[in-house]
Amino acid sequence: MRYLSTTLFILLAFMVKPVFAEDDHSLITPQVQNYIGYGAIILAMLLFIGVMLVLLKTFKVLTRIILKSEGYTEEQITAELQPAKKEKKQKAEVWQKLLSLRPLAEEKELLIAHDYDGIQELDNPIPAWFMYLFYATIIFAAGYLLTYHVFKVAPLQYDEYKTEMAQADIANKIYLSKAANRVDENTVKLTKDPTVLAAGQVVFKTTCVACHGEHAQGNVGPNLTDDYWLHGNKINDLFKTIKYGVLSKGMPTWEKQLSPKQISDVANYVKSIKGTNPSNPKEPQGTKETDDAGPAPKKQLVSVLVK
Ligand code: HEC
Repeated sequence: MRYLSTTLFILLAFMVKPVFAEDDHSLITPQVQNYIGYGAIILAMLLFIGVMLVLLKTFKVLTRIILKSEGYTEEQITAELQPAKKEKKQKAEVWQKLLSLRPLAEEKELLIAHDYDGIQELDNPIPAWFMYLFYATIIFAAGYLLTYHVFKVAPLQYDEYKTEMAQADIANKIYLSKAANRVDENTVKLTKDPTVLAAGQVVFKTTCVACHGEHAQGNVGPNLTDDYWLHGNKINDLFKTIKYGVLSKGMPTWEKQLSPKQISDVANYVKSIKGTNPSNPKEPQGTKETDDAGPAPKKQLVSVLVK
C-alpha cells in the first residue's frame, strides 16, 4: 500500500510536469521542473531496488520455510542459502589489500598517541591503489620528459600544430589548383583579378603574339582589342575559341598545350585589353559586338545622359 502511494505520487509528478512547462506564469522555473523530474527518476530507481531487495528477502524466507518443512537443520539451511562463501572471502582479501585496509582487531596498533577531546586518529597506510597510481604518474612524467624535451623524439604541441598547418596549406593549394583547373567554357568566370590577368599576359606573350601581334593588334590572327569579333566576345566564347581553336582558319587548338586555368587566364587577359588601341591595328574582322552584360554598358548609359 505504501509503495503504491509512492508510485502514484511519482506518476502524478510526471503527468503534472508538462502542464507546468506550458504555463508561462508558473512559479516553478523550467530548471526546477527539471530537477523535480530527475528527482522523480532517481526515486523510481531507488524504489525499484527496494522492491527487488524485499522480493529477495521474501524468497529467502520462503526457501527457509520450505527447507525446514523438509527436515533440514538450521545449519544446513544457512549453508544452503550462502554458498560460494570461500570465493567471497578471497575477493574481500584482494579488495582489502588494494585499499590497504587493516582488520578492526588491529585498530589498537594503529592508534596514534594523541587524543583531542576524545577524538583519536588512526595511522592507516596510504591505500595501495593510490600508491600504484602515484608511481605510474612518476614513470609517465619521466617518459614524457625524455621523449619530448631530452631526446626530442616526438614534436611538441606547437611544432605539431605548425606541421599540421603546413600540411593543410599544401592540401589546400592542391585543392585550389585542381578546382581552378576544373573550369571549362560553361563555368569560366570573368574576373579583373590582377594575378589572373598577369598570368594570362604571360601565356599571351609566350604563345599568342606570333599570330595576334605583340599588342594583340592582329597579324595572321585578328585584332583582339577592337569591337569586332568572328566567334563572340563573351568570356565563354573566348574560352571556347582558345580551347578548341578554328583549325580551318589557322587558329590552333590550345586544349592540349594549356591547362584549363591557363586558358581561363588568357581569356580574361584578352577581355582586359579591349579598347587599348594599339598602333597598326589589323582591319576589323567579324561583327561589332557590345560588351558582356556588366558594369560597362551602364557607364555608356551614364555618358549618354551627360551628353
Ligand atoms: C598560328 C597562329 C595563331 C596562334 C599561335 C594563335 N592564334 Fe588565335 N587566331 C588565329 C587566327 C588565324 C584566328 C582567326 C580564326 C578565324 O578566322 O575564324 C584566330 C582567332 C582567335 C580568336 C577569335 C577572335 C575573334 O574575332 O573571334 C581568339 C580569341 C584568339 N585567336 C585567341 C588566341 C590566343 C589567346 C592565343 C594564344 C593562346 C592564340 N589565339 C594563338 C591564329 C592564331
